[in-house]
Amino acid sequence: MVVKTEPNVAACSSRDQAVTVEARDLVKRFNDISAVAGISVSIRRGEIFALLGPNGAGKTTTIQMLTTQLKPTSGVVRIDGFDPQRQPDEVRKRIGIVFQEPTLDTELTAYENLDLHGQLHCMARRVRTARIFALLEVFELWDRRDTLVNRFSGGMKRRLEIARGLLHRPRILFLDEPTLGLDPQTRNLFWTKVGELNRLDGTTIFLTTHVIDEAERVADRVAIIDHGRIVADDTPQALRRRTGTDSLERAFLMLTGTTVCDETEPQCSDYVARAGRG
Ligand SMILES: Nc1ncnc2c1ncn2[C@@H]1O[C@H](COP(=O)(O)OP(=O)(O)OP(=O)(O)O)[C@@H](O)[C@H]1O
Ligand SMILES: [Mg+2]
Repeated sequence: MVVKTEPNVAACSSRDQAVTVEARDLVKRFNDISAVAGISVSIRRGEIFALLGPNGAGKTTTIQMLTTQLKPTSGVVRIDGFDPQRQPDEVRKRIGIVFQEPTLDTELTAYENLDLHGQLHCMARRVRTARIFALLEVFELWDRRDTLVNRFSGGMKRRLEIARGLLHRPRILFLDEPTLGLDPQTRNLFWTKVGELNRLDGTTIFLTTHVIDEAERVADRVAIIDHGRIVADDTPQALRRRTGTDSLERAFLMLTGTTVCDETEPQCSDYVARAGRG
């Protein structure tokens, strides 16, 4: 008898209330490209989880499959126990997303973008308005609330995207390179806010970033993905220990197949710059 090896849904710990994001043997193929080649992750409620990897490693594709945007080729996903393909509304209620690519409506004002998002999430008007005002203040967009987004600078748009992702107080927040294009002050402010959300509201955070020292500072756990496969999954300290390195960035370079080299060498500094740029 041929025994077909399906991913074992019953064994998925999505039934374990402590686990909020679960992927088992997740695969996404685009014709002959294996963007995600069978990854498994299990993220506990309240955890800050960072998925790091070089350009094209499969980070955005993974997030898209976890957040209802993309149908997996195979594998199992559960978000708070719900299947993003079969129960997308249940999943969308629970998640917030800051996308890698801009998705604001540039023909609307900052306020209108946030208000529309709040309405889509069925937030009552009073709650919505108070939350929008607070986030516009936090991300220093209050004075520009009635400006059309097509008049915004890149950093202002990014701040608005982040405010939108936080608006409905999601239980799980997916951040795909959220600090891309932000100045250092705003980066710090952003990570402070994310830390507060995590600590005070218990929000689970799933992030990707190419700024590896940010991940090292904020993440409880780091998984490194390379060519669609997870090559390491541990705490930043354990990854440093395992690779015998003194920084997560160096551990990352080793685990993604590049030996740590003399950064004054053109070949190496080029690689390090690419890894850091995103
Ligand atoms: N819609 C698509 N059609 C075909 N190939 C795709 C599609 N989306 C992604 N890919 C391919 O899948 C692979 C993984 O892409 P993905 O965007 O997930 O990488 P990433 O890790 O997010 O990279 P980056 O750090 O550059 O954002 C790449 O080879 C990419 O070209
Ligand atoms: Mg990406």
